[in-house]
Amino acid sequence: MTFSEQYIQVRKHSEQICEPLQTEDYVVQPIVDVSPPKWHLGHTTWFFETFILIPFHKEYRVYNAEYNYVFNSYYETIGNRVIRTDRGNLSRPSVSDIYAYRSYVDIAMRNFLKNELTAEVKALFFLGLNHEQQHQELLLTDIKYILGNNPLFPAYRADETIDTELESTLLEMISIKEGIYEIGYAGEGFCFDNELGRHKVYLQDFSISSTLVSNAAYLEFIEDGGYTNFVHWHADGWDWVNNNKIIAPMYWHLIDGDWFTYTFEGLKPVNLKAAVTHISYYEAYAFASWCKMRLPTEFEWEIAARKFKWGYRWEWTESAYLPYPGFSKAPGAIGEYNGKFMVNQKVLRGASEATPPGHGRITYRNFFQPYLRWQFTGIRLAQ
Ligand SMILES: [Fe+2]
Repeated sequence: MTFSEQYIQVRKHSEQICEPLQTEDYVVQPIVDVSPPKWHLGHTTWFFETFILIPFHKEYRVYNAEYNYVFNSYYETIGNRVIRTDRGNLSRPSVSDIYAYRSYVDIAMRNFLKNELTAEVKALFFLGLNHEQQHQELLLTDIKYILGNNPLFPAYRADETIDTELESTLLEMISIKEGIYEIGYAGEGFCFDNELGRHKVYLQDFSISSTLVSNAAYLEFIEDGGYTNFVHWHADGWDWVNNNKIIAPMYWHLIDGDWFTYTFEGLKPVNLKAAVTHISYYEAYAFASWCKMRLPTEFEWEIAARKFKWGYRWEWTESAYLPYPGFSKAPGAIGEYNGKFMVNQKVLRGASEATPPGHGRITYRNFFQPYLRWQFTGIRLAQ
């Protein structure tokens, strides 16, 4: 595929994700972590405009100079911006304004991509595509939160099942021998800067489960008093459970003694054969402790991952999100992409059913704070 074809394919996919939405669904921000869908559509457009068109396309004219304030996410280098909690308070730019902004930038990008690109611009172009793909996953998780916290529990798309049943719910452990292993990205393709600094680690003998934890297994934890026994929890996690009155994964509802969960198809009985999802790191840790097991480190996960199927859930690991040896931030605003978040977060490995096709990688490092659970997170056990 040409660069232009790749660009169009990625850009179209974001809009296809939004096709089932009503106009009002595009605008709301029920919690700080969830951005309004229209903001994602504008912000991903702003990314191409700010990092490619403005600096490198001589004839380009900025669409609307005020949009920089609205669609800059967290780049201090780029200047002031709407505070994150206010993204849902903006009735303007309207949804149709933002689609017009997308079209304007898309035409400029397609013209620009006819030129020979320098290595620097190529790298920014692929970063822009991968950035938009990350926001496609966020679009799905944020749409789920918006609709799933509406008392009417509207379906997103009747045929959109992101609840694949596990091939097996039996706990089978894969053994890996102790030794020195190499971690991190090696290759010619795209990777994020946080995957670089390929380096050696020493791993002890360990075993890791071939499947994710199912809803059936997680229900046993709930019914065994998992949420009411401090012994399984970190102190932070126990405070989080009690302060927030957590009794089950996000989106689960106990109705007349039966567990239901909000899915993209609306409220459904919990599918016991599907992998548990929408759980925090605290819950993943507590469940593993209840099983008398643990979570894998991100290094164990990366070495073992060729031996199991992954990609259903972002899998919480026991690893803190830290730079690899030799990690360096790129100069300028792009250096703010990953590096400044390397504190107080846990690494998640794999991908989820909301991850766009082709975006996942065995060396991919996702990261979130331990209490967050609106992403399609899951659990794989280790020993
Ligand atoms: Fe972004």
